[in-house]
Amino acid sequence: MAQEDIFKKLVAHCKEYGYVFQSSEIYDGLGAVYDYGQNGVELKNNIKKYWWDSMVKLHENVVGLDSAIFMHPTIWKASGHVDAFNDPLVDNKDSKKRYRADVLIEDQIAKFETKIEKEVTKGAKRFGEAFDKAEFLKTNPRVLANQEKIDVLHKRFSDALNANDLEEIRQIIIDYKIVCPISGTCNWTDVRQFNLMFSTEMGSTAEGANTVYLRPETAQGIFVNYLNVQKTGRMKLPFGIAQIGKAFRNEIVARQFIFRMREFEQMEMQFFVKPGTELDWFDKWKETRMSWHKALGFGDDNYRFHVHEKLAHYANAAVDVEYRFPFGFKEVEGIHSRTDFDLKQHQEYSGKKIQYFDPELGESYVPYVVETSIGVDRMFLQVMAASYCEEELEGANGKKDTRVVLRLPAPLAPTKLAVMPLVKKDGLPDKAREIIDSMKFDFNCQYDEKDSIGKRYRRQDAVGTPFCVTVDHQTLEDNTVTIRHRDTMEQERIEISKLKHMIADEISFTKLYSKLK
Ligand code: GAP
Repeated sequence: MAQEDIFKKLVAHCKEYGYVFQSSEIYDGLGAVYDYGQNGVELKNNIKKYWWDSMVKLHENVVGLDSAIFMHPTIWKASGHVDAFNDPLVDNKDSKKRYRADVLIEDQIAKFETKIEKEVTKGAKRFGEAFDKAEFLKTNPRVLANQEKIDVLHKRFSDALNANDLEEIRQIIIDYKIVCPISGTCNWTDVRQFNLMFSTEMGSTAEGANTVYLRPETAQGIFVNYLNVQKTGRMKLPFGIAQIGKAFRNEIVARQFIFRMREFEQMEMQFFVKPGTELDWFDKWKETRMSWHKALGFGDDNYRFHVHEKLAHYANAAVDVEYRFPFGFKEVEGIHSRTDFDLKQHQEYSGKKIQYFDPELGESYVPYVVETSIGVDRMFLQVMAASYCEEELEGANGKKDTRVVLRLPAPLAPTKLAVMPLVKKDGLPDKAREIIDSMKFDFNCQYDEKDSIGKRYRRQDAVGTPFCVTVDHQTLEDNTVTIRHRDTMEQERIEISKLKHMIADEISFTKLYSKLK
């Protein structure tokens, strides 16, 4: 099945099983804003727990913060967002559709990458076990030709971005015959810059009102609290401040479901270090964050680093962690070495000294910062995309059957256990509820008595529940139940008294944490 079709199915699945709904749906929706349903909110909370614990609980020099969304407007002047938080946009004159010029060019690069991947797949098929991927990438003429196209386009694109040359960006789009997917034409307007911040008014009267911004990143709330946390926590460098919270961006092109939203959530950590050590910490955090992603077990080959073409005005190094989504490798997280830019700017604009007294050196300086920044919603989409699976099964009497299963890592699954009485009588429902009552303080359980057992299994597979327990007549005699494992569909008979321990072990976050570097 084409990857785009899989993605469409995933979006439909998210709605059908209470994961994600379009915001304001009964009013025909609001562009690029989404609500999380009964299962979505649980998965989202579990993702946040995984991140928060791995940052704050597992690092004794990282502490948390929850700063307000509204902040003094000068903060956004100091940070550079008022003047430079822009995206280059271009309109197609025929379809009247608006695009991000940089995304159009990145998509063109992705097309060349896809051609290389296709050659690799063909090569692997042709040479079988003898296939040497690294050698093939170095020597196959078609791969090399496409790689050269990528390199040439990369260079031209990054030069144009670095020089902020909007005419050249438009020329690239025209030279590469990049067309509007709606009109199919290359009839483009000039490329313009567009500021992404939402603003509103604070104060009761229009005259006294102050323009305030909805924060476009949570990071600035951390920077302006650096002194508060450092002093009250008696923190010594290096140390980090972690925060999870909403951010808002008036994205020009909001596409791909919850990949690019106008209201979203970020999990950011700013790590304050001694100047000159920032690139070592940058490398360390790169490794730490990649290990966090890979520990989920979605396949190491599906992740890669992407080094930034254009460094933001505040950075001296930056990479993205990219995941292979159904629509190609895309950014999930950014890791940035932000120098002392932000703290220095806030020092200048606020007139307050923002420094650290280093007892070893006996001098004060403005710390440097390494940031890790990941979108909760984008991580949610990544987890869903990686978990969604359509399987062919050998059905009864050798007939082909299929199932949709969400192979969510058990610690992240919204419901851990579904308890099902085989029939709705003979005291089986009461026994099932007794089991739930003995577990519900430890993990999310669901009681499910409607439809045949087979249908109930399919429903729980589709929602990603790792365990189903069936209570039958034998249960009443010997206190055993059948437990079914979602991924293998294997079933085993187990004593009720052993159930909690077994499930707790499988769903435990501790197992995930122990895999982290
Ligand atoms: N403080 C740095 C910062 O905000 P960013 O690369 O603009 O950096 C970090 O954003 C992460 O936030 C991205 O890697 C992505 O996961 C998420 N993100 C950014 N814009 C988003 C949007 N419009 N919708 C959903 N997630 C977004």
